[in-house]
Amino acid sequence: MNFIENANIDNKKVILRLDLNVSIKDGEIVDDTKIKKSIPTIKYLLNKNCNVLILSHLGKVKTETDKKENSLYIVCKRLSELMEMNIVFVKDTRDSRLKEIVKDNRLVMLENTRYEDLPSSLESSCDRDLSMFWAYLGDVFVNDAFGTTHRRHASNYGVSRFLDTYYGFLVEEEVKGLEPVVNKIERPFVVIMGGAKVDDKVALIKTLVEKCDYILVGGGIGNTFLKSSGYNIGNSLYSKDYVDEIANIITNNKDKIIIPSDVVVENNGEVIRKNITDITDSDVIYDIGEETIKNYRYYINKADTIFVNGTVGLYEDERFRSGTEELLRELSKSDAYKIAGGGDAVASVNKLGFSEAFDFLSTGGGATLEYIASGKLKCDGEEDVSFKS
Ligand code: 3PG
Repeated sequence: MNFIENANIDNKKVILRLDLNVSIKDGEIVDDTKIKKSIPTIKYLLNKNCNVLILSHLGKVKTETDKKENSLYIVCKRLSELMEMNIVFVKDTRDSRLKEIVKDNRLVMLENTRYEDLPSSLESSCDRDLSMFWAYLGDVFVNDAFGTTHRRHASNYGVSRFLDTYYGFLVEEEVKGLEPVVNKIERPFVVIMGGAKVDDKVALIKTLVEKCDYILVGGGIGNTFLKSSGYNIGNSLYSKDYVDEIANIITNNKDKIIIPSDVVVENNGEVIRKNITDITDSDVIYDIGEETIKNYRYYINKADTIFVNGTVGLYEDERFRSGTEELLRELSKSDAYKIAGGGDAVASVNKLGFSEAFDFLSTGGGATLEYIASGKLKCDGEEDVSFKS
């Protein structure tokens, strides 16, 4: 991998891809960690007298309403406050004056690159013309968007086809922090996998299961595993289209995949712990139960490496927090190398006060999972280039 410290980058016009995809609620940024973590690379480039054009996506843009709700302007304002400098914000992602604007200004941010996904998915399908348009605004491409390294979109992979490409400090930090779960795994390696949907994780779970010793499942993902194992999960959230595929994964990895034996359900406002064999059609599963927590503790204690991806319950609601909190508590006592990755996992670790217990908190969600599973950055220039090389 080429990092910016090795680049002759002085006085260049730099296209800088960042992952500024932060969650926004009621017009406020919920957590600005990704923005703060992008600053060292920006400062480095400015110190090298570069003119910098920042590209980033925010959310998914499939409708005009998505467009309204996902403007990067609020992120630009926050970055500008943190940097204590003015940032020129360009609303039109194909503005014909962009080349001049970049030439005349030190720091420019373009509106959400996924605005180009409406109407025809040009960013997400890595449209060649769009990639070229953005690439030719600069002399060099710097990719510091670790959270998007599992995508081959126009603003990362596409631009890198046309310019010399280097990785920034955040990608470097992530690669180092994740190294113990990629190339030098101390075993047993235990993955705690939760979160709402299994959909875009299925392929990665298949690879990850080969790499790890145990996967403990919970959350909406856990529900799909339970459904695939033949249990009634009542009215609980699960990923219908993936039941058969998950059933195959379970059959082929019986000793590795550990599913809940009891859960906490809500039924008509009542919260009850139930064995997984006793779920009725109107129950909704929201957390793992005490017996499952006890069993999962056993695996946590055995582990030398632990990766937490997602939460095993709806931890935001106190009534369904116990699974996530108790597993984090157990994990905080363990000497294993511990990593959390994925929006919800890191948010729960921070909110429940366990951040100090972790060796590394990754800014990536799907990207972290993909990198751990494959040891590669999908957005990387060449096919099948491993981080090892
Ligand atoms: C993330 O938040 O995980 C990254 O920004 C990637 O976002 P995406 O899943 O919408 O591509």
